Amino acid sequence: MKIDIVTTRNGVRETVAYDYRPRQEGERPMILDVLLQAQATALPDLAFRYGCRARNCGVCTVDVNGRPRIACRARVRAGDRIEPMATLPVLADLVVRRDGIARQLQGRTTPDHRDPDVNAEAPEAYHDLTACIECYACLDGCPMHARNFGDDAADAAAPDAATGYRWGNPFSLLKLQRLRLDPCVSEDGRQAALDAAIDLGLDACVGCKGCKCGVGIDLKGGVVGELLAAAGDRVPGDGASAS
Ligand code: SF4
Ligand code: SF4
Ligand code: FES
Repeated sequence: MKIDIVTTRNGVRETVAYDYRPRQEGERPMILDVLLQAQATALPDLAFRYGCRARNCGVCTVDVNGRPRIACRARVRAGDRIEPMATLPVLADLVVRRDGIARQLQGRTTPDHRDPDVNAEAPEAYHDLTACIECYACLDGCPMHARNFGDDAADAAAPDAATGYRWGNPFSLLKLQRLRLDPCVSEDGRQAALDAAIDLGLDACVGCKGCKCGVGIDLKGGVVGELLAAAGDRVPGDGASAS
């Protein structure tokens, strides 16, 4: 089965045609199976990330034919093209720089908590959002995140991920909305989370077609729509929904 794998060596991107050999008759391999076999055979220094191999850790995401896929859970087909995620700067081969997203939330996700011993049940909506595995697939096509990079999201030179990206993304909005649903967070803390969402560029969500989650979380309704509704007039335009 012929698969194209995009490598980056000394800053040069190259497409390598790899011929995957099925391990058994009728096998329907995952993208990660292809990468592991390619590394074990033809491309010993091929760089890519994986951890749990069970859709739990989120680090194996790559683009397949231009869309983000969780490599350990997405089936591969002949002719597929495997590339690093286009939404984050490439470090080597299929490995992208992820820290700019985490750093962005520093100081924004530690608002006031009520008495930490408070015995309160979180609502179901809170638990729905805990399903996030931090795969960053939702960054795909997000105009808020794209503001960080101007016209070229693959340009590793700008901005500096070490300081955290200026503009947000569906994942950072999810983290902030989760704080707003956390029964241990004070009213001031909830307000701080909403302020942070607005500061990260929530206005970009107005009129946006909405974001898609790699594991099926309802980002449009459960995160973006809730934040826009709470922001009301503080976000220009139709603050009731991302349409
Ligand atoms: S709705 Fe907001 S967070 Fe989602 S893709 Fe659009 S701009 Fe990004
Ligand atoms: S919200 Fe979904 S797509 Fe985004 S990082 Fe979390 S699990 Fe991945
Ligand atoms: S290896 Fe952990 S989600 Fe794919």
